[in-house]
Amino acid sequence: MRRLWIKNLVTDIPTVQQIYNTDCRWMRVAIAASRRSEGRTAENPPVGCAIVSAAGQLLSVGHTGRGGRPHAETEAMAKSSTELLAGATAYVTLEPCAHKGQTGPCADALIAQKIARVVIAVVDPDKRVNGAGIKRLRTAGIAVEVGVCAAEAKRVLAGFLMRVKMSRPFVTWKTATSLDGMIALADGQKRWLTGLEMRRYVHLLRSRTDGLLSAIGTVLADDPEFTCRLPGLSDDGPARFILDTNLRTPVSSALVKTRDKAPLTLFHREGVPCDRKTALTDAGVTLAELPLDADGRLDLPVAMKAVAATGCNHIMVEAGASLSSSLFSHNLIDRIVWMQSSHLIGGDAIPAIHSMSMLALPDRAHYMVQEEGRLGDDRWFVLNRRYGEN
Ligand SMILES: NC(=O)c1ccc[n+]([C@@H]2O[C@H](COP(=O)([O-])OP(=O)(O)OC[C@H]3O[C@@H](n4cnc5c(N)ncnc54)[C@H](OP(=O)(O)O)[C@@H]3O)[C@@H](O)[C@H]2O)c1
Repeated sequence: MRRLWIKNLVTDIPTVQQIYNTDCRWMRVAIAASRRSEGRTAENPPVGCAIVSAAGQLLSVGHTGRGGRPHAETEAMAKSSTELLAGATAYVTLEPCAHKGQTGPCADALIAQKIARVVIAVVDPDKRVNGAGIKRLRTAGIAVEVGVCAAEAKRVLAGFLMRVKMSRPFVTWKTATSLDGMIALADGQKRWLTGLEMRRYVHLLRSRTDGLLSAIGTVLADDPEFTCRLPGLSDDGPARFILDTNLRTPVSSALVKTRDKAPLTLFHREGVPCDRKTALTDAGVTLAELPLDADGRLDLPVAMKAVAATGCNHIMVEAGASLSSSLFSHNLIDRIVWMQSSHLIGGDAIPAIHSMSMLALPDRAHYMVQEEGRLGDDRWFVLNRRYGEN
């Protein structure tokens, strides 16, 4: 009899591994929720929260609201009742805030609702938080776990983390190429290399980024809008930033015509004639002056700081070989989304990147494939940069 009691006692206590697996499972629910906020939280982080009752049942899920409010924890708690929240566990992808902004601190709200345990994926590097949320929860007697599924959560938070730590946005370079790595035929004229499904995917990606960066070569060749034109998502297009040294963007361009759909900023050099500036500002375009680098081009690190200062956490680059090559040479590309069609268009076409004069290969490639798939007749790859190795 006594032996049976001991056996039950032992089997009823979950092992560390079991707790970790359970925590991972619920944290992944919170991470999935956080992805619904990507590109929609202004300068705030896209956070997800899942609340699980003391009996192990999912009570509610929340994510950061449009423009950054409500916060994920507030939204998740609002969807549950005070009685059920008492004793529950909250899974949050980013440390709950401890400072009062436009809303009260989430750490205080969790304490007020008598949450018993908080599981956090990533510590918030914002100097107003940076461990203060964790400390406040622990001081109130709440059990806190940190670091659960951190790598997965960081993929969604990458833009916010990059802006707070490095004062620049996280940069995704998107390119659509032929099978042989070319972005346009020799004449440079606009033609679709990939099919309709892949082009729709590009619009989805635009809806999930805060900003889009391109340059005047692409504007003059393609006359793009760089908006999101998917049904139901047209309000989610990114803020548009164009490198245009001499302000050659036509006032009649699709970019300028669509300034009411998404903000448009043109970066230019000092000393551009006033009439060019006036024509564009009268058309509702924001102009921002940048210094030139040693090669006489707009200074990219300064451009990145200027983009981050507008609150953009994550930008996507859609540009020709010139800007793409400049960004690679400055080590400013964090993620690559490569879309590859089945067309072969030959060596006289325009390559995705200009020559790099490389004489040797690194031991390991600077980017590694994270995901890949197929849409219609085209393939796509997402590659992430290996930090600390280049
Ligand atoms: N398949 C695809 O995914 C894709 C995507 C985009 C474009 N494209 C194609 O690419 C072609 C255009 O290529 P592109 O190389 O001419 O265009 P780009 O890279 O979009 O624009 C290059 C221009 O940007 C300006 N610029 C200012 N600062 C710069 C800097 N720091 N680094 C680089 N450029 C800077 C320069 O012009 P200023 O000195 O006058 O400012 C430069 O000539 C078109 O045929 C287009 O269809 C293909």
